[in-house]
Amino acid sequence: MLNEAKFMKMKKRERLIYFNEEAYDILKNYLLHQVDSIRNIFILVDEKTYRHCLPILFHYIDFLEKSNIIEIKSGEKEKNIYTCIQICKHLEKFKATRKSLILNLGGGVITDIGGFVATIFKRGIRFVNIPTTLLGMVDASIGYKTGVNLDSIKNEIGSFSVPEFLIIDTHFLKTLPNSEIFSGMAEMFKHGLIADKSFWKQMNQIQKNIIHKHEWGQLIHKSILIKQKIVDQDPKEKGLRKILNFGHTIGHALESYFMNINKKILHGIAITMGMIYESWISCKINGLSISDYKEIKSTLSALYPIQNKISDFEIQKLFLIMEHDKKNEKNQIQFSLLKEIGKCSYNCQVPYSLIKESFLI
Ligand SMILES: NC(=O)c1ccc[n+]([C@@H]2O[C@H](COP(=O)([O-])OP(=O)(O)OC[C@H]3O[C@@H](n4cnc5c(N)ncnc54)[C@H](O)[C@@H]3O)[C@@H](O)[C@H]2O)c1
Ligand SMILES: [Zn+2]
Repeated sequence: MLNEAKFMKMKKRERLIYFNEEAYDILKNYLLHQVDSIRNIFILVDEKTYRHCLPILFHYIDFLEKSNIIEIKSGEKEKNIYTCIQICKHLEKFKATRKSLILNLGGGVITDIGGFVATIFKRGIRFVNIPTTLLGMVDASIGYKTGVNLDSIKNEIGSFSVPEFLIIDTHFLKTLPNSEIFSGMAEMFKHGLIADKSFWKQMNQIQKNIIHKHEWGQLIHKSILIKQKIVDQDPKEKGLRKILNFGHTIGHALESYFMNINKKILHGIAITMGMIYESWISCKINGLSISDYKEIKSTLSALYPIQNKISDFEIQKLFLIMEHDKKNEKNQIQFSLLKEIGKCSYNCQVPYSLIKESFLI
């Protein structure tokens, strides 16, 4: 668990995040010197990371082939407490101890589940995150949140937990479908919008048709630093960290609404739409200029399939979902809104009429 003492210790560590080849050297060294036996190393993967990512990890650290592999099915549906119990039973069966370590090799689903299991098993064992999706690298594995869903309620059970460290290897992205790249990219655009205008401008250079050939390393690095800096100032989301929710109040409502009618849309597309609507609201009540709003809308809608018209019926449903958002306070829907590109406010209350208008523009 992220108690203050552990958090301070973690902050004093020189670095928590390592990149590419250097990262494997650090991990190898750590495993050789800080874990007493290969039997104490467990690697959590899903079906796809078993196939695409495990061979890469073995290529760099060959003795891991003798470690204990825990494979679960791919997908958000697996992110529940029952999967955690299965993993705990596996750890128990193979005699995991307090000295064991879990390497979470996968996207946000794997790092969320694996981090949470590591927090609760025997009251806490060590874990290392090796994210293999773009969203995992720039978002899910950064910021100490772990957890699972409770039925359809996202991330209802969880903890704040600190991994030993994080390994970022952009080679994993080669096998990732384009749609998943777009999903992660949306969070990177968000990081620029809320905290770093020059990063937003850099992200604007990305061209849709060559997405896979893009040189991701430097952009991922920058994006991680932006999120990490925000989280370090407010790890438990008492204030500033809320700016990371920009685009997510409306975005989450859209995601849940489409899921409820069996028309699943990617998280990245939902929050991109959310960012456009919430930018318009920002323009109306938070000082965002019209030219900034237009730039945001044109950049994002050139890359993402944005549904333009939301019907009255859909708007009513979206309000019902937003009213139950767990981030609400005092029965008010809470928004994080832009002041300008690169600056964001939080705890903003928005009149219902304005939220409704944003869907109609
Ligand atoms: N803890 C946090 O702070 C935080 C923040 C944002 C999101 N999340 C969570 O992250 C999850 C979404 O993460 P995600 O988008 O990475 O989803 P995911 O883990 O389901 O991965 C997406 C898909 O890509 C596959 N995959 C993973 N790596 C691959 C690779 N290298 N090549 C080919 N296929 C690969 C997976 O098997 C899966 O089918 C959600 O559950 C969300 O709640 C957590
Ligand atoms: Zn998100």
